[in-house]
Amino acid sequence: MKAHSFPRDPLILAPMAALTTSALRCLVRGFGGCDLYFTEMISAAALLQRGPYESFYINPEPEPEKLVYQLVGSDREKAASAAEFLDGLPGFGVDFNMGCSAPEIVRAGAGVAWMKNAENARRLAAALRSRLKNKTLSVKLRVGYEDNFDYLVSFCRGLAEEGADFITLHPRIKKEKFSRVARWDYITALKAELSIPLVGNGDIRSWQDYSLKKTRCGPDGIMIGRAAARAPWFFAFLRKKEEDPGCEMTVDLQAAAAEFLDLLPRFQPGDFLESRSKRFFSWFCQNLMFGHNLFVTINNSKGFDAVRKVVFDYFTKHPEARYKTEKN
Ligand SMILES: Cc1cc2nc3c(=O)[nH]c(=O)nc-3n(C[C@H](O)[C@H](O)[C@H](O)COP(=O)(O)O)c2cc1C
Repeated sequence: MKAHSFPRDPLILAPMAALTTSALRCLVRGFGGCDLYFTEMISAAALLQRGPYESFYINPEPEPEKLVYQLVGSDREKAASAAEFLDGLPGFGVDFNMGCSAPEIVRAGAGVAWMKNAENARRLAAALRSRLKNKTLSVKLRVGYEDNFDYLVSFCRGLAEEGADFITLHPRIKKEKFSRVARWDYITALKAELSIPLVGNGDIRSWQDYSLKKTRCGPDGIMIGRAAARAPWFFAFLRKKEEDPGCEMTVDLQAAAAEFLDLLPRFQPGDFLESRSKRFFSWFCQNLMFGHNLFVTINNSKGFDAVRKVVFDYFTKHPEARYKTEKN
């Protein structure tokens, strides 16, 4: 049974480990939000053990009805039990990660490793579907181990036949990290073969990227990762541009940084604050003059309080860096 219907033309915050916490989602929300927010990947096995950090991973703030929990794991039964647990929480959907190509994840038989065997993936989708009564089921994947479009189509059709409500394609093969550009022609071609919505993801960094991919490739939704970590206002900017392509948006970077530093301790355990703040500023600093130098200083700081101090000192020393105007 499908509890929620797929939104029209959604803009979606991508799952990003150590980044897409409630804190980043709140920051995005403060600028106007997006249509669906994915959590970072959550280990199905750890979730079932109810470890000390799980409550932070599953915190649904700030817009629980738009939240998609992303599960990662290699064991079908554990994944299904974790999905059943998530089904009882607030939220829009449960996604399964079949795209992560980090070596430790693939070695464990998770992430993109699921794409090696379409029959196993299909059985997993059926098991997940059978436990989800109140949430959508979706899968996020890559093109696969190699460039084989026919295999990708039959793989995705299998998932759809077992009840997946939508699929997100990050069109790169396993061995491509971010080395070459995402193959958006795969989105166009795959969409034509599927009966369920297809979300396109990869390399949307500007208004031009967005409008071009949207009109040329016709995905049912667009998911954005790194650009939203750099610019949590990016979704708001795109919506504004859709109404008025000539518009610009001026953002108070100092206020955004301060807001994030306030939000993080509200939503993350003390021992995550340093690493999570560094992860965020590795992207956010790209907005700033001498941003790389600033990030090196942040990264060399010891402890969350030191990170905060470096950020505040930067804006005190560089008042001219406070505002940024997004144009393109
Ligand atoms: C720091 C980081 C962490 C990521 N973590 C996840 C994850 O937990 N689950 C997942 O499916 N993809 C993950 N991804 C991949 C993104 O969701 C997305 O597919 C990829 O970044 C391409 O989109 P983009 O070009 O808009 O960033 C991660 C990417 C980055 C940069």
